[in-house]
Amino acid sequence: MTVAVENASATQARTTSERILVLDFGSQYAQLIARRVREQNVYCEIVRHDITPAQIANHNPSGIILSGGPASVYEDGAPKCDPGLFEIDIPILGICYGMQLVCDSLGGKVDSTRTREYGRAFCEVSTPDPLFNDFPGNAQVWMSHGDQVQQVSDDFVGIARTDTCPVAAIKHKHRPVYGLQFHPEVTHTTHGAILLKNFLYEVCGCEGTWKLSDFADEAIDRIRKQVGDNRVICGLSGGVDSSVVAALLFKAIGPQLSCILVDNGLLRKGETQIVVDQFANHFKTDLHVVKATDQFLSVLAGVTDPQEKRTKIGHTFIDCFKAEAEHIENAKFLAQGTLYPDVIESGAAPDGPAATIKLHHNVGGLPDQLGFELIEPLRDLFKDEVRRLGIELGLPEELVWRHPFPGPGLAVRCLGEITEEKLVVLREADAIVIDEINQAGLYRETSQLFAVLLPVQSVGVMGDARTYENALVIRCVNTDDFMTADWSRLPYEVLAKMSTRIINEVAGVNRVCYDISSKPPATIEWE
Ligand code: XMP
Repeated sequence: MTVAVENASATQARTTSERILVLDFGSQYAQLIARRVREQNVYCEIVRHDITPAQIANHNPSGIILSGGPASVYEDGAPKCDPGLFEIDIPILGICYGMQLVCDSLGGKVDSTRTREYGRAFCEVSTPDPLFNDFPGNAQVWMSHGDQVQQVSDDFVGIARTDTCPVAAIKHKHRPVYGLQFHPEVTHTTHGAILLKNFLYEVCGCEGTWKLSDFADEAIDRIRKQVGDNRVICGLSGGVDSSVVAALLFKAIGPQLSCILVDNGLLRKGETQIVVDQFANHFKTDLHVVKATDQFLSVLAGVTDPQEKRTKIGHTFIDCFKAEAEHIENAKFLAQGTLYPDVIESGAAPDGPAATIKLHHNVGGLPDQLGFELIEPLRDLFKDEVRRLGIELGLPEELVWRHPFPGPGLAVRCLGEITEEKLVVLREADAIVIDEINQAGLYRETSQLFAVLLPVQSVGVMGDARTYENALVIRCVNTDDFMTADWSRLPYEVLAKMSTRIINEVAGVNRVCYDISSKPPATIEWE
């Protein structure tokens, strides 16, 4: 209920600025389209494919993009848009499946052949059009389709072609309706950004007025209205999302904000201090650090099963957070760092199919249990936008660019039973790998880097003595979305320095390995 109200007011508050709607027909690229549009300084939102014309009018968009999708327009049950969409006078760009839908819906004659085409093609402009302004006569584009349009009706004209696709781009003769068979949003389409820019600026008449700083001002305004005189609690973890939420809230409501950091003893080296320095010392926020190491370690004593570790940590976190929150008077709201991809994936986008929000595992259940209303000021942003916002709000680069860290923390990197002694070893080794990657200037080029302590001893020789000590793994991956990942090809010299330093400086480790598994089949974390 709270979510629905927030959505409605948020949508209304933004109807004055330029915006584009992406109707999602199940494309793996729908989010990418939205990002590309925002990169052109035009606000963009993803909505359900069957959104009604009345709902569209409520958004007051400057243009509509119909995404691709895996279906064929001729299949039973293929997702269709409301036919009324084509009655409203708003520019439309159909991409791949979206283009076939445009043709199908506007009486265009579409001959579908199941000529599958995936990958690179070269697109030649056949009829000059504003959509292709500044597009080279012939440029690489990226195809990914089963069906393709072979012929168009008299209402349309083909404006570009490839060797295998005679109508790679179409335009309606009398209305601002376009279609592209290829994907302008992917980087393999070398001049795709120009096409999207032309659609936004030349066809839709946008001026590119959307800026993150405007977003921040609007968000601050909304937060103030929503919160009134009440108090907001924000859980801090040391990660970028919760830090940006807290910084934004601090700017909006300053003294009405209370932050809680549960120090579970499973954090990285120096993490608590970074949060304290930034939020208590610098912003002067009301920060409550709950020192709960003993509580967590006693709950985890003897536990080796990864799922059991996670569950126990989750419950203990809730207990600690709740106990602290109960001491904070007049708290009515709980802030969460939900991002736009979470909102879309959970189907809770405005006009989305369901209203179930994917709760951050750390605070799952808390709003209900404590009777809080949720406040999610980042729910319209992508991760890179959150980082940029963090910088605008004055957070240090070090915090804003931190690699992700799992809620259960070092517990899922300390395999087998967790003890204070093992955590000390792991924390020190982890600090060394991070230090070395920074020294090598490669931190930002990798997506996640950390150490994993194995419950395995092996034989070594140090000085003249035999040792029998722990084996430790360095894990470093590159990924765009953390759903798939590849191991990072770190230079040997960097790995060598990490290994030498760990074995020399961390007592209890005599062997260091590098994890060269990709995801899938491995996961990024070891547990
Ligand atoms: P996996 O190991 O599933 O991890 O490949 C993918 C990404 O998710 C992070 N991760 C978590 N983050 N709570 C979190 O907040 C968790 O329980 C959790 N488990 C994994 C992981 O660090 C990686 O970035």
